[in-house]
Amino acid sequence: MGQDDNKTAGNEPLPPQPPIRDPPYAEYQYNIYRAHLMADQLPVATTNPYLLEEQARKIMSKEVAATEDGQAAIPPRPDAFGYIAGGAGAGTTMEANRRALDSWALVPRMMRTGRPLPKIEDNEATDANAAAATAALRDLRVRLCLGPGRGPPIDLANPVVMAPVGVQCSYHPDREVGVAAACAELGVPFTISTASSSSIEEIKASLDDTSTEDSAGSPSPAPWYQLYWPEDDTITASVLQRARAAGARILLVTADTFTLSWRPMDLDAGYLPFITTNKGNAIGYSDPVFRKKLAKSGQDGGDGGGDDITPENNPLKASLGWTSQVFPRHGRPWSDLAILRKLWGDDGAILIKGIQHPDDALLARQYGADGVVVSNHGGRQVDGAVGSLEMLPEVVAAVRDAEAREAREKESIGKQPFTILFDSGIRTGSDVVKALCLGAQAVLVGRPVIYGLGIAGRKGAKHAMASLLADLDQTMNLIGCSSIADLGPHMLRKGGAPFKVSL
Ligand SMILES: Cc1cc2nc3c(=O)[nH]c(=O)nc-3n(C[C@H](O)[C@H](O)[C@H](O)COP(=O)(O)O)c2cc1C
Repeated sequence: MGQDDNKTAGNEPLPPQPPIRDPPYAEYQYNIYRAHLMADQLPVATTNPYLLEEQARKIMSKEVAATEDGQAAIPPRPDAFGYIAGGAGAGTTMEANRRALDSWALVPRMMRTGRPLPKIEDNEATDANAAAATAALRDLRVRLCLGPGRGPPIDLANPVVMAPVGVQCSYHPDREVGVAAACAELGVPFTISTASSSSIEEIKASLDDTSTEDSAGSPSPAPWYQLYWPEDDTITASVLQRARAAGARILLVTADTFTLSWRPMDLDAGYLPFITTNKGNAIGYSDPVFRKKLAKSGQDGGDGGGDDITPENNPLKASLGWTSQVFPRHGRPWSDLAILRKLWGDDGAILIKGIQHPDDALLARQYGADGVVVSNHGGRQVDGAVGSLEMLPEVVAAVRDAEAREAREKESIGKQPFTILFDSGIRTGSDVVKALCLGAQAVLVGRPVIYGLGIAGRKGAKHAMASLLADLDQTMNLIGCSSIADLGPHMLRKGGAPFKVSL
């Protein structure tokens, strides 16, 4: 299979991509005006990404009253807000992330796109024809070629992926199943975190339901899976097998978080969700191999006094057992990637998340990974670190140079490019464009969507993601780029807006 794949990917045209889901994204802007004009409705959360955090802080500090449509009251969640908003140490890496993005400026080009966007008062403009016409103006689709022998490429409707974010039940009862559904409605892949408060199977069921509900008929994008790498290989094998059964083909292995950093907002509140609230452990608690081992630890004379320990009868022991697996306090050597390759299979991609140094990207490639996510975990792990975007061009140059060198030396026909994704600090459409101009193939977004979840549950998460996509779509339109392929360093100038707001 590997050989055939290589040939197809390298020498023959790829098959046409599937239809865009729910296009055009810019239409969301007009929908907002329309809803106000026709029904006196305003969006469920702010559209200003710089104000989302403050709005979430306010809403999450108070009780949210029960609603008439059946949603129970939600107690105040100030600690959970702190867990989202906080960063490592003094928060300087979060600031550096924004500075790095703001240090580049877009240079728009004019008179390059054809037809106008639909007008607000024109009802015809909202129908499928107008949507198709607008979609034809801009094509945000992205194709990720995963590597030789890794099976067919993965097509994304747009270059945005939902980042893995743990413990979502702490922010709103809609939790991961709600955010996954919201993302699916927009054609955005949802990444299942190892620290989820919904099981892999619950999230898969939510994605399946969303496919069925969607009148456009296109299936939800398959989930991606993020691994905090368990100490015990048999537990890793079980979790990865479940992720594959849920349809995941992309595995993000988070290298930067084998232990949690010094996080003052959580420390001052004594808040470690996995232990102090017993949340974010759903992947372990629903895993048959972990449960069996936990049960046995009681039989062997642990706290269970000879009885089986379960997450239900001994939550403290269970949460300590799970967190010691997934946050073992030490990293893994590169050579251990061979273990994951065996467990994940040859037909799935392994991307290392948390890469900042170009040499680490080259090592990832050397040890058989299919790509990296240039990320500093949203500034949550190392304080005083470089802004993530600052390192993207160096990583891209190192990897693409190595590929070009090898192609010259070995004529490696059909060798697919190493995937390079980016996250940390993305807030606006122009942030996405900047990262793509600098060589990222797609970006992951974390906090904005999670603030949306905290503010208004699934609807709020969808609003935050839809807003980012609309802003991206409009920005592409306004800078004169009709497809992702039009983007590159030629659209940027170094020395953009000065640092203004810390997010
Ligand atoms: C509350 C919170 C929880 C997170 N949980 C995880 C996680 O479980 N696994 C992981 O790899 N990254 C996790 N991240 C990091 C994100 O995947 C992503 O790298 C980061 O949020 C990107 O930065 P941004 O928030 O500025 O968009 C988390 C981030 C936040 C804010």
